[in-house]
Amino acid sequence: MSESPISFARGAPAPELVPAQELADCAHAVAQRDGDRVFAYGPGGGYGPLRDWVAKRHGVPAERVVLTVGGLQGFVFYAAEQLARAPGRVLVEAPSYDRPLKILAREGVEIVPLEMDDEGLDPDALDAELESRSEKPSFLYTIPTFQNPSGRTLSADRRARLVEVVREHGLAVLEDDPYGLVRFEGDPESSLLELEGGDLVTYTSSFSKTVAPGVRSGYFVLPEAHAPAFEERAVSTYISPPFLPQAVVAEFIARGNFEPNLARVRSELRARRDAMLTALDASAPDGVSWSHPAGGYFVWLELDGADATALAADAEREGVAFVPGPGFFAADSGGGAASARFAYSYETPERITAGVERVMQLLG
Ligand SMILES: Cc1ncc(COP(=O)(O)O)c(C=O)c1O
Repeated sequence: MSESPISFARGAPAPELVPAQELADCAHAVAQRDGDRVFAYGPGGGYGPLRDWVAKRHGVPAERVVLTVGGLQGFVFYAAEQLARAPGRVLVEAPSYDRPLKILAREGVEIVPLEMDDEGLDPDALDAELESRSEKPSFLYTIPTFQNPSGRTLSADRRARLVEVVREHGLAVLEDDPYGLVRFEGDPESSLLELEGGDLVTYTSSFSKTVAPGVRSGYFVLPEAHAPAFEERAVSTYISPPFLPQAVVAEFIARGNFEPNLARVRSELRARRDAMLTALDASAPDGVSWSHPAGGYFVWLELDGADATALAADAEREGVAFVPGPGFFAADSGGGAASARFAYSYETPERITAGVERVMQLLG
């Protein structure tokens, strides 16, 4: 096969979704104008103007915002801080984003999976878990909107119930929301941060999906009491983050490019999502089912008992890559054996259609 492999494996935007020329222009402008600041050491919490913008958007003081080198770096800080402050097991959705699972496993943390369905995490399953043991967990890690890997979104009712349970048990929560703004249809749900008020919930997002992953600019909105220690952890890791990319994002926003770019990204991704769902409708064998995301990057498939890992190996020989389900469950849990994540963010609609057909033929 001479054409390049079709990748549903990468949770990354296609190059044409990244506004590279405009970012290059912003980089030149900020380096010229604000070089004294962007090429110096500075606050561990990040570049002031961007920190202020995030703070204003979330209605919190800037001291509660820390910009990190991507959201994942911030996850490492959060987990380390929270586990030191309140040692214990970490509750996660099953399935969940694979990288945090690996980070937690590497630290030897007990990972407790919680059930989810099409409406997202089941708050009653959370309640039951909390009632079942006397020791409190360290924290809950959740991705309520257009979840990685499932594409599912926690419903409004469940958000309200989740916050109730969290308050009842005084449970710390990390709400990871890099995809929330990448919505194709429907009205946004309130964040857990908004519903809870920010005493227990720490909120994180990033500019990876709304501007570009290469700017490596994520952010955390922390409870007031925890922000200084989090920032201190950043300082003791890298002194201060690279300011140039954060300043590039700030300049991109100041020029009024953020919302128009987001509109373009949404419409491009929507076409890709549509191509994937249409191709699945047309070619998936009976018994295979999948999620219908209203935003984000991912469709989650239930393969009617088929071995996802073997299917991924066969698909690779046919020039299509995807990540089989087990990677999104705690190791050795046995979860995900007949599930798969298909990302539609990286390929064109035409290649998405061709790739889905090829994988479904293998199943048929
Ligand atoms: C749920 C989730 N959280 C965090 C990240 C990390 O993003 P970044 O480190 O690029 O901000 C990703 C990236 O794919 C993600 O899917």
